[in-house]
Amino acid sequence: MTQDEAKQLVGQRAAEFVEDGMAVGLGTGTTSVQFIHALGARVQAGLKVRCVASSESSQQLGWSLGIDVTTLDQLPELDLYIDGADEIAPGLALIKGGGGALLREKIVASAAKKFIVVADDTKIVPHLGRFPLPIEVIKMAMPLVKRKLVEIGLDPVQRLNKDGSIRITDEGNFILDCACGQILDPEETAAQIRSIVGVVEHGLFLKMASLALIAGEDGVREIKS
Ligand code: A5P
Repeated sequence: MTQDEAKQLVGQRAAEFVEDGMAVGLGTGTTSVQFIHALGARVQAGLKVRCVASSESSQQLGWSLGIDVTTLDQLPELDLYIDGADEIAPGLALIKGGGGALLREKIVASAAKKFIVVADDTKIVPHLGRFPLPIEVIKMAMPLVKRKLVEIGLDPVQRLNKDGSIRITDEGNFILDCACGQILDPEETAAQIRSIVGVVEHGLFLKMASLALIAGEDGVREIKS
């Protein structure tokens, strides 16, 4: 099975967790795109759901498929949030933000009663830290935040777009991708990063997901937190 096929399979399985009448958060990234397509197919077949998206791109995709995607203003409490991850460690500790939507993803995840993370099995790791940790930063604070991150042992690199221009998030901020090495104490690392003035959010999602759907050669398996 290719990685794309695994993402499609797990996206379809995730859509089965959505029940009629639910308020659902839509994640961001290639796996979430598969989920949104599968949800769109169920909506076209008559499923009634209302959704909030974690990025402009997921919102646009939802609308294009006929899904009712609204705002947290209209729908502040969600039954379910479904999204991908860049790394999944024991206890369902996650690194997210490879797609640059970590801030809105964390906001939407925090509005949901249940967060199901969906991924192919390449995302499973024994410890977080192989994937550079994304951190969203206020533009003005960039030089200060970079210096402080270096002081705590991280190696921040400003994220650029493919054309070399600086990446700006949906909320108008910069992103630093930080090589961390193995993150042995994610809670401590998260606290250190959060204490830096000018950091808006980081990509460590700890104790947020309660279920992972992981696609591999043997199909989709479930991991509970
Ligand atoms: C988006 O900002 C991310 O958090 C994604 O959820 C994460 O990068 C996983 O993306 P893929 O599903 O594309 O691997």
